[in-house]
Amino acid sequence: MTDLRFATESDLPTLMDLINRAFAVEKFFKKNDRLNPEATREYFHRGRFLVSEQQDHIDGCVFVELKGDRAYLGLLSVDPARQKSGLGTRLVVAAEEYARELGAHHMDLTIVNVREELPAYYQRLGYAISGAEPIPPEMIGPVTMPCHFVRMTKPLGKARESSLRKSPATKKANS
Ligand SMILES: CC(C)(COP(=O)(O)OP(=O)(O)OC[C@H]1O[C@@H](n2cnc3c(N)ncnc32)[C@H](O)[C@@H]1OP(=O)(O)O)[C@@H](O)C(=O)NCCC(=O)NCCS
Repeated sequence: MTDLRFATESDLPTLMDLINRAFAVEKFFKKNDRLNPEATREYFHRGRFLVSEQQDHIDGCVFVELKGDRAYLGLLSVDPARQKSGLGTRLVVAAEEYARELGAHHMDLTIVNVREELPAYYQRLGYAISGAEPIPPEMIGPVTMPCHFVRMTKPLGKARESSLRKSPATKKANS
């Protein structure tokens, strides 16, 4: 069974490698890796990474950042060898649970419009398209076709007792 915990600073090289391998699927419209070490550290200081781990091997992660009474979910990544086994869904549910605990009422995420399979994926998880916005060039680097962000949003409802807080590994990583 996979455990979920918050990332610590020592996880960052592994996380960057995982995210870049998962986001290699975007090489059909952009040239660069999704993250470099500086950007990875910047995300780490801005929000929290939740990671899934099996036998000391990190096989998935998601980034969550609180923005007022809303939260932002990003960099959802599952090891290509472990995709389509429910891990992405589990990470999204855990990210929502954490955002509720922080007091967020809505979760926002953005997808690049040329990733045509993603709206259906997130719609199944309760998200609806809520807008469009330009992609900050520094965020994904040079692109090989015109593209923009599609924003998707989900109302979060009230906080419940969190399974994340019950995990000893999480408590240790979170203290
Ligand atoms: C998108 C991603 C996180 C999904 O994670 P995952 O663990 O493979 O997803 P799940 O196993 O939870 O999938 C849930 C359902 O969605 C389906 N699904 C997952 N990825 C899909 C895809 N790319 N296209 C179509 N359907 C997909 C699964 O088959 C599954 O369907 P089922 O319930 O009928 O079996 C993963 O594919 C990934 O890391 N992709 C690369 C990075 C990325 O694109 N991140 C999101 C950017 S916003």
